[in-house]
Amino acid sequence: MQKFKKQLAAAVSEAVCKTAGDNVCGADEICAMLEYPPDPTMGDIALPCFRFAKLLRKAPPAIAAALAEDATIKSVDGVGSVNVSGGYLNFRISDGYYEKNVIPEILEKGDGYGRSDIGKGKTVVLDYSSPNVAKPFHIGHLGTTVIGHSLKKLHEFCGYNCVGINHLGDWGTQFGKLIVAYRKWGSEKEVEKDGIDGLVALYVRFHEEADKDPSLNDLARAEFTKLEHHDPDNIKLWKWFIELSLAEYKKTYDQLGITFDSYNGESFYTDKMPEQVEKLRSMGLLKLDDGASVVDLSEYNMPVCLILKRDGSTLYPTRDIAAAVYRKRTYNFDKCIYVTSSQQSLHFAQWFKVVELMGYDWYDELVHVPYGTVSIDGVKLSTRHGNVVLLRDVFEAAIEKVTKVIDEKNPGLENKKETAEAVGVGAIVFYYLMNNRIKDISFRMDDALSFDGNTGPYVQYTYARTCSLLEKSGEIRGDRIKITSPYEAELAKELSRFSETVLRAVAEYEPSVITRYILAVSTAFNRFYHECPILSAEDEDVRNTRTALTKATNTVLHSALPLICLKTPEKI
Ligand code: ARG
Repeated sequence: MQKFKKQLAAAVSEAVCKTAGDNVCGADEICAMLEYPPDPTMGDIALPCFRFAKLLRKAPPAIAAALAEDATIKSVDGVGSVNVSGGYLNFRISDGYYEKNVIPEILEKGDGYGRSDIGKGKTVVLDYSSPNVAKPFHIGHLGTTVIGHSLKKLHEFCGYNCVGINHLGDWGTQFGKLIVAYRKWGSEKEVEKDGIDGLVALYVRFHEEADKDPSLNDLARAEFTKLEHHDPDNIKLWKWFIELSLAEYKKTYDQLGITFDSYNGESFYTDKMPEQVEKLRSMGLLKLDDGASVVDLSEYNMPVCLILKRDGSTLYPTRDIAAAVYRKRTYNFDKCIYVTSSQQSLHFAQWFKVVELMGYDWYDELVHVPYGTVSIDGVKLSTRHGNVVLLRDVFEAAIEKVTKVIDEKNPGLENKKETAEAVGVGAIVFYYLMNNRIKDISFRMDDALSFDGNTGPYVQYTYARTCSLLEKSGEIRGDRIKITSPYEAELAKELSRFSETVLRAVAEYEPSVITRYILAVSTAFNRFYHECPILSAEDEDVRNTRTALTKATNTVLHSALPLICLKTPEKI
């Protein structure tokens, strides 16, 4: 569709410039104005003519009417018909365009279809997931993990070189708390056996006890200070805690098909902070505030950014500043993306400003991508105490339910376990990524897991359906495509929008654009499947066309599902 829009825009630009003067309205500008009519019976693409009113000194409906008669516009390859509706010019795309351009292109390009090279030669660093070690990996982490990974996949699809970083929260006073709790109430055997659960239990116990006896907090601080000074016993415990936590996280990442290029967590930047603190100091940016060193941001309507505590220890923003400088030097990124809950928006706005004040001219390459909160079946989440919904438990419950459905409907399925995992986990991810990321969402497990409705199982099942059809089909010929049904044309139209949809998702940092696109393709395919006999079509060209459309759908879904962390089982 992108190609068609560009050609159309060029023709419109030529027509407008002919009357209003050279270069008054370029093709790119017009291309960006093109819309999809909300009601597809009006047309496939609409051009609002309101912006031309000033240039052409005519009312928009009159402009639309004149453009509708323009010979160059009418002769653009793919324009089927043109009609005027108020100030809009509505175009219908000809079936021939899908037959000659869209479907053959998908068949020919295969996995390459929909990709672009806008990112060629550019590097994007993505900081996501980044859980805090020894704290539970709960449903609130779903957002950063799957939005982050989707954005990585989407950027890769557009040719960017991507570096995925898990900025583990592996440093801070929580380790002091854990060390105190472990020595008081823990045992090696138990923690070894229970893994991260054992650590979380100790952490929760610490908070319960510290509510009664606040002096425990001082002990914890002292243990963390010892850790900062490389006390060998504390270092040993700390490393062990991280190892246990990572083992658990990696299980979840495996289920999601996620890998990272780097696990450099907060502790990695310990020796990289002094240089930045020194720079801040020498530039006169540090101020003393009740004993702490801060950067005053009142001029920018923000609270001070904390750099050093009263006792000289560093803070979360200090580590982020050092990490950004390190990443710029190491990867020379064109963009560094941070995906976190919107509760951290102020934190990012503050330290981005500090980086700017420090004179780093790449400050505007730092991007914070926030998302809203999640609750599950009405349960609210809190991290410090025990009542959290673990992501692992949510996945397990989903897998269990899907296993039941498969047992009922397709008991003989091979790879049952693997498939149930792909579909169960996929259901949760799909449900989550259907919403605009910034929205707060409340999770209904039953809705997410339904096989009909706008769900992950529905789209994965649609993909599997294309696979099984293709298994039984013969050779496909790209030169014998003939569209004979509006359901075929509708499907081809959806498929033709893949590339521009990917570009929009990247531009808006919004995976839900892809989720909704996958739904639109699946719906169009299933409608086509129910209305048009495919393998049993008698006419050879009709059969070939429908098989080609099935193949094209298969290709697009096979590329699109992994863009939102969904796997593509061929049989369900
Ligand atoms: N560990 C942090 C948390 O769980 C998220 C880290 C995000 N990345 C960053 N560079 N600050 O809240």
